[in-house]
Amino acid sequence: MQEVQDSHSPPLIYEDTVVRQLAFMAVVWGVVGMLVGVVIAAQLTWPQLNLDIPWLSYGRLRPLHTNAVIFAFGGCALMATSFHVVQRTCQARLFAPGLASFVFWGWQAIIVAAAISLPMGYTRGKEYAELEWPITIAIAVVWVAYAVVFFGTIARRKVRHIYVANWFYGAFIIAVALLHIVNGASMPAGWMKSYSVYSGVQDAMVQWWYGHNAVGFFLTAGFLGMMYYYIPKQAGRPVYSYRLSIVHFWALIFTYMWAGPHHLHYTALPDWTQSLGMVFSLILLAPSWGGMINGVMTLSGAWHKLRTDPVLRFLIVALSFYGMATFEGPMMSIKTVNSLSHYTDWGIAHVHAGALGWVGFITMGSLYYLIPRLYGRTSMYSMKAVELHFWISTVGVVLYIAAMWIAGVMQGLMWRSVNPDGTLAYTFVEGVKATFPFYLVRLMGGLLYLGGMLLMAWNVWMTVMTGVSARVTVPGLVPSRA
Ligand code: HEM
Ligand code: HEM
Repeated sequence: MQEVQDSHSPPLIYEDTVVRQLAFMAVVWGVVGMLVGVVIAAQLTWPQLNLDIPWLSYGRLRPLHTNAVIFAFGGCALMATSFHVVQRTCQARLFAPGLASFVFWGWQAIIVAAAISLPMGYTRGKEYAELEWPITIAIAVVWVAYAVVFFGTIARRKVRHIYVANWFYGAFIIAVALLHIVNGASMPAGWMKSYSVYSGVQDAMVQWWYGHNAVGFFLTAGFLGMMYYYIPKQAGRPVYSYRLSIVHFWALIFTYMWAGPHHLHYTALPDWTQSLGMVFSLILLAPSWGGMINGVMTLSGAWHKLRTDPVLRFLIVALSFYGMATFEGPMMSIKTVNSLSHYTDWGIAHVHAGALGWVGFITMGSLYYLIPRLYGRTSMYSMKAVELHFWISTVGVVLYIAAMWIAGVMQGLMWRSVNPDGTLAYTFVEGVKATFPFYLVRLMGGLLYLGGMLLMAWNVWMTVMTGVSARVTVPGLVPSRA
């Protein structure tokens, strides 16, 4: 708990134990999830690395990777920062700290259940919604508890205005509950086996409505909440245009909900639905770039800080990758472009420009701001290590996505090229062989990115060890209102 002195009101005690726990676990799960990412990248390069052990097979480790990085790493970071931001911006203590603790322990139990059940081969077969029905129900329960704590804190706020970061976090919490419950609806057919209640093309549509909005709300809206709080804080500048941030919010959440069909181009889905998805994806460029520009322009008058402040660099470079991924996404949603990119590693490049560049960097920057302050320090134990982390992970992302872009376009072109007599110019295996060097480069990029994450874990550990330990209030220490 941190005590904050205020000349006008009695001291306000922020409930930060759960923030510390979640922030710490975000780093731990980041290391685990990225390690599994490196393992599957190595398996794609050298398939024999599955060692003929079913638990280590690519098909089981891949969902372990996606669940670990999105829901364990990203989820813990989103919960930690939302609990931190909502208290500071509402000038209120966290609502129901006991329930918040349940959210922490419940979420960790779900992650462990995923880490056991996925390698054992239990899966619902829906991407990003693989976990079997008992775990799916547990997620719904913990998520509702999370919503109660978050909105309960907003309800007891001491300031009238609800700061924009909370709108983004709030939309993320509500939308994820809705998506999870609708797409999770299944008929149990035994302990750890179930069938979706939808069938055929309806099932596909519900799944990709979920899948795309998991990107829009889990991997985007929540992290925009981080962006709107931690960039102004670290830059020491107000948000460039508060009015734009409100337009950004409403335009983004309205548009995302309609874009899902771009994942199902050229399928049995009615054609008009695919075109609708494409049009909404193109429209999505505008709010996405509006938000990016608002974040970057917050640095007006403070650009020089980028030269010396690696934390700010993480936050701002995250926005450049966000801009890149949200330009590329609308282009890939155009049906003719998608006919080249779909099924190829171009998609993997797009995913990781967003995942490593945007989600990873904004999380790292926010945690580098948050963690020292949670332990009574003004900065991390080693700022040199933060600087090094920034550079090796930047090189890592660039190697990863450049390799996958080239590989993806090459695969698409090889698969569609035909001889004058109409036969295919290349066999599939020739495409696989041609991709090998690019998989090696991706693996190197992944190793660098993981190396940066390990450096962060060490730095966080040292910061915790040399900081003021949890639950101790030091006389005279007045933590910033961070
Ligand atoms: C060291 C870092 C990482 C490495 C080496 C890595 C590697 C990989 C590999 C090899 C795949 C499978 C690609 C394929 O199917 O061809 C993959 C998929 C995926 N990864 Fe990562 N990854 C890393 C970090 C992350 C992070 C931080 C996130 C999210 C925050 C993420 C999200 C995803 C997603 C969503 C997919 C599925 C993509 C799709 O189905 O189109 N990854 N990753
Ligand atoms: C304006 C914003 C965006 C649009 C319109 C968009 C559009 C697309 C399109 C068209 C695809 C390929 C679908 C396919 O061929 O199957 C795709 C895949 C994907 N995108 Fe985006 N994207 C956007 C932003 C982002 C961001 C910021 C992230 C990550 C943080 C992201 C993560 C993903 C993932 C994970 C997939 C792979 C889904 C799968 O097949 O498993 N996207 N996106």
